[in-house]
Amino acid sequence: MRGVFIMPVTSVAGEIRVPGDKSISHRAALLGGMAHGETYISNFLLGQDCLSTLRCLKQLGVSWERQGSEVRICGQGMEAWREPSDVLDAGNSGTTLRLMLGVLAGSPFSVTLTGDASLRSRPMRRVTDPLKQMGAQIMGRQGGNLVPLTMNGGQLQGHTIRTLVPSAQVKSAIILAGLRAKGETRVEEPARSRDHTERMLRGFGVDVHSEGTEIWVQGGGHLTGQDVSVPGDISSAAFFLVLGSLAGSGEMILPDVGVNPTRTGILDALRAMGADIEVTDVSEVCGEPRATLRVRPARLKGTEIGGDLIPRLIDEIPILALAASLAEGETVIRGAAELRVKETDRIRTVANGLNTLGAKVEELPDGLRIQGHSSLRGGLVSSHGDHRLAMAWAIAGLVSKEGVSVENMDAADVSYPDFLHVIKQVIQ
Ligand code: S3P
Repeated sequence: MRGVFIMPVTSVAGEIRVPGDKSISHRAALLGGMAHGETYISNFLLGQDCLSTLRCLKQLGVSWERQGSEVRICGQGMEAWREPSDVLDAGNSGTTLRLMLGVLAGSPFSVTLTGDASLRSRPMRRVTDPLKQMGAQIMGRQGGNLVPLTMNGGQLQGHTIRTLVPSAQVKSAIILAGLRAKGETRVEEPARSRDHTERMLRGFGVDVHSEGTEIWVQGGGHLTGQDVSVPGDISSAAFFLVLGSLAGSGEMILPDVGVNPTRTGILDALRAMGADIEVTDVSEVCGEPRATLRVRPARLKGTEIGGDLIPRLIDEIPILALAASLAEGETVIRGAAELRVKETDRIRTVANGLNTLGAKVEELPDGLRIQGHSSLRGGLVSSHGDHRLAMAWAIAGLVSKEGVSVENMDAADVSYPDFLHVIKQVIQ
């Protein structure tokens, strides 16, 4: 068989410290680079995506040093950023690319940004159009929709922008550009997306206002370097929440996981399916809530997932679909067309992958219809270079009858470099 073979297991147990939150790590590095003074980040995610953000910052003249997952950034303010002598490569990371576009829109120089094959096919107009309205000049394929993109930044004018999709990357890019614009910049979202940028900007001393789905800032905000402790990533914890629910026996404990309410849709969805998940030791560190999650096996049943819940669990849908394929009854996920423009078209790749493994999944234009079964056969599937698929297929192997071979398992390095090693520690 090709790929990495994952054998079925019946029992899982242990305590797992999932790596630092990807969204928060990106923002800590970026805001640290924009701030005046030193920023010290602990539990920074060493996934390829966040390393791309650090590399781009270095090319822009921001100096930082890293020891393991501790990063120290010597911020000298955005005025100190310099025109890079080469193209900035965001790799597989949409967050690096879109947030960088926002920050660079107000920088008085020219910069070209690109990414890997997946990122080069993902839509950027949702960011470039608002930034152009604010005064940035951006050129690229499809009228500035696809990277490589060249941006000539400069003086921006604040604007009110109604976004068409709830996207924290788009919202953050506009807010970060707004900090360097004249006057007020306001974003109105169709539904609330993750709010890490707003929370962290407040920690760095910037006045960010928000009410419901509206966020606004005044231009000229000054950032002061901070200590940022990054909580564990709930999107990484999700793989163990599903594994712990589907396993035959055992208990898993996940300490220090971020439980920002804009990210905890996976807890709501799994509990609605009957999962046995306990949340304890809730505290707030650096403006972000964190908690210990404890999961035990449970009989899951099908559910309906849609509406405002979707942005709160958008990255967890691949692993949630696996849970649904082993639940009793039907699960329908709607209103998730955004999945089509993630690292892969996750509606297609999840449906095809699960069907290859013996599940019964129907692709919908904006979601999935999944008929639950008491078991999953197994087989050979590919990650297609998508980190969340690689990890979902590995979990599928553990809970399958015959095991799963995962092609391109290395893709997991984007958000969870040690994933297979950790899996080995929890299987009994
Ligand atoms: C992210 C926002 C989400 C999410 C992505 C990380 C962020 O994307 O899917 O993995 O850190 O802002 P969208 O903004 O495209 O919804």
